[in-house]
Amino acid sequence: MAVRAKVLGTGSYLPPKVVTNDDLAQIMDTSDEWIQQRSGIKARRFVDEGVVTSDLAFEASKAALASAGLEASDLDMIIVATFTPDHFFPGLSSFLQRKLGLDATPAMDLRCQCTGFVYALQTARAFVESGIYQRVLVCGAELHSRGLEFTDRGRDTAVLFGDGAGALILGPSEAGDGILNCRVYAQGEHAERLWMDAPGLAYQGLTNAQMIAEGRQVPSMDGRFVFKNAVARMPEVLLETLGECSLGLDDVDHFLFHQANLRINEMVARKLGADPSKVHNNIQVTGNTSAATLPILFDQIIREGLVARGQLVTMTGFGSGFTWGSCVMRY
Ligand code: COA
Repeated sequence: MAVRAKVLGTGSYLPPKVVTNDDLAQIMDTSDEWIQQRSGIKARRFVDEGVVTSDLAFEASKAALASAGLEASDLDMIIVATFTPDHFFPGLSSFLQRKLGLDATPAMDLRCQCTGFVYALQTARAFVESGIYQRVLVCGAELHSRGLEFTDRGRDTAVLFGDGAGALILGPSEAGDGILNCRVYAQGEHAERLWMDAPGLAYQGLTNAQMIAEGRQVPSMDGRFVFKNAVARMPEVLLETLGECSLGLDDVDHFLFHQANLRINEMVARKLGADPSKVHNNIQVTGNTSAATLPILFDQIIREGLVARGQLVTMTGFGSGFTWGSCVMRY
């Protein structure tokens, strides 16, 4: 039987500080009602001072290694999906590798925003299936809270995001389980519909006082356009990945969608006609942790005992780029 990339273990980490909608309403013009009605979010986790994204990635990776019964030294490759790294360069993966106590294990960052984890799975899977690497750590980690603007100007994005990390370890299996299919896409045409303009090397000195005054360092999005595209692309790519394996929606035991907005996921599930009891969401208490949403959710439902070995799990994402993708696996 063909070699497939199978999940050997999972882990996740959310910083302990809970920030409720009411907490945000104290510092800017928003309300619990507005946020919950539009997004389903009630609370999110924010890091404390001094904590960086690679700390979150480290905690999630340690938990994934423990659940796989592996040591960091067993890893052949580290892939981190993030667009909120500790520094411009080197990548977050170098800091994670160092925190894991490794000195030569290859480590790379992958930047595909909220679809980053699906892209990372597609990449890691290719390494495992080809036999190039046997044990690949795939991590999604984001620290948004320090990059948002908690003012009336920044409120449309500030209320949506949270901090956190999730990870899993892939290894080879010839038992018919593992990742069955994965598809990823991008449409750069819409890059500016959900983006952060600056700082960037498009600008001399990365940014300047005028750009900062204009708020170009605050994430900006055309919310309705993003919403419309997400509810079209996620069902489309999920059905494609399932169809290519001759599987249908009824075969799926667990649907995991990117946690950007509960209303998006409700609409996607409705469009598909997916059994609501098989659709998992945690955005109510995590907010949108971008590349970390899927591995956090996956780890949580595994630890809650909801997922049995052999069950069919799908992970589907959409995000800035635009990027989108879906992965079908037999856990
Ligand atoms: N609190 C209160 N009011 C807010 C607000 C906040 N945090 N943020 C924006 N508003 C105001 C706006 O200023 C605007 O006011 P106006 O009508 O006076 O100009 C109004 O609320 C916009 O409301 P509405 O048109 O109902 O927003 P919406 O239904 O488009 O919902 C989003 C906004 C962002 C929740 C929604 O578009 C969305 O979730 N889009 C997808 C975003 C996403 O998924 N991003 C990440 C993808 S990876």
